[in-house]
Amino acid sequence: MQISLRGIHKEFPRQTGGRLPVLRDVTLTVGAEEFCCVVGASGCGKSTILNIVAGLTLPDAGQVLVDDAHLDSSRLRIGYVFQKPRLLNWRSVRDNVAFALRAAGASAAQARGKALHYLAMVGLDQFADEFPLALSGGMQQRVAIARALAIEPDLLLMDEPFSHLDEMTARTLRAELLRIWEQARKPVMFVTHNALEAVYLGDKVLILSGRPATILKSVQVELPRHREMEDPRLVELQREILHTLGIMPVNAVRH
Ligand SMILES: Nc1ncnc2c1ncn2[C@@H]1O[C@H](COP(=O)(O)OP(=O)(O)OP(=O)(O)O)[C@@H](O)[C@H]1O
Ligand SMILES: [Mg+2]
Repeated sequence: MQISLRGIHKEFPRQTGGRLPVLRDVTLTVGAEEFCCVVGASGCGKSTILNIVAGLTLPDAGQVLVDDAHLDSSRLRIGYVFQKPRLLNWRSVRDNVAFALRAAGASAAQARGKALHYLAMVGLDQFADEFPLALSGGMQQRVAIARALAIEPDLLLMDEPFSHLDEMTARTLRAELLRIWEQARKPVMFVTHNALEAVYLGDKVLILSGRPATILKSVQVELPRHREMEDPRLVELQREILHTLGIMPVNAVRH
C-alpha cells in the first residue's frame, strides 16, 4: 500500500483575523515499504501534514491517495503517535494500549496480553497498572508509542516521538522501531527536528520549507541498515539537510 499526497493546500483562520497559509502544494509519495522522514522548522506545518494524512484535518485543496484510490479511512488501520501523548488519564497504562487493540478488533484477553508485550518493548511493563499521570512525560510518550505499534498498523504516523526522551532511551527505541518496521514493512511517516535521526531511520528524508511549507528537497538515504549514528556518511547527509534548511554548521567556515 502506497500513500500519496497531491497538491495539498491548507490555510487556518487566525483569531486576529485573516488566514494563515500553512501548506502550499505539498506533493509526496510514501512507498509501500518505505520509511519516510519529514524535517522542517517549528511551526512550518509538519503536524498538519500528518493530521491530513490521518483524516483528522481536511485540506483546502489536493488529495490524499491510497494506492491511487481515495483514502478510505475506515478501512485503513493507522497508528498515530501524536506530538503529545494523548493518553486516557482515567485508564491504566495497560488499558490505554488494550483499548486501542479492542477498537482494532482484538478480544479482551488478546488485548491484555499484547498490551503487556508492547509495554515491555518500550520498557514500561513494570508500570502497566499505573495511571498515566503518575508517569513522566517521556514515559507517557513511550506508552503512546506502544499503543500505536500494538495495533500493527497499515500506516504508521509518528510526530517527533523521541524528541522528549534522553538520548540513550531514544537510541534504544529507534533501534526497536526499525526492528519492528523491518518485520512488518509498512509505510511510515516520521516527523522530526533532528536531521541525524532522520537519516539514521529513513529511506528518504523530505525537507520542508518554512511556512507555508512546501517540499524543498527529497534526500534518498542509500546506506544499508543497520546504520551507525556516527557513520561519517550519515553525518554528511545531515549536513546536506541542515544546509537545505538554511542552518550552517558552525565549523563550515574553514581557514
Ligand atoms: N487548528 C489550527 N487552527 C489554527 N492554526 C493552526 C491549527 N493547527 C495548526 N495551526 C497553525 O499552523 C502552523 C503549522 O502548525 P503545525 O502544528 O503543523 O507545525 P509543526 O511544523 O508541526 O510545528 P512544531 O515543529 O513546532 O510541532 C502553525 O503556525 C500553527 O499555529
Ligand atoms: Mg508539530
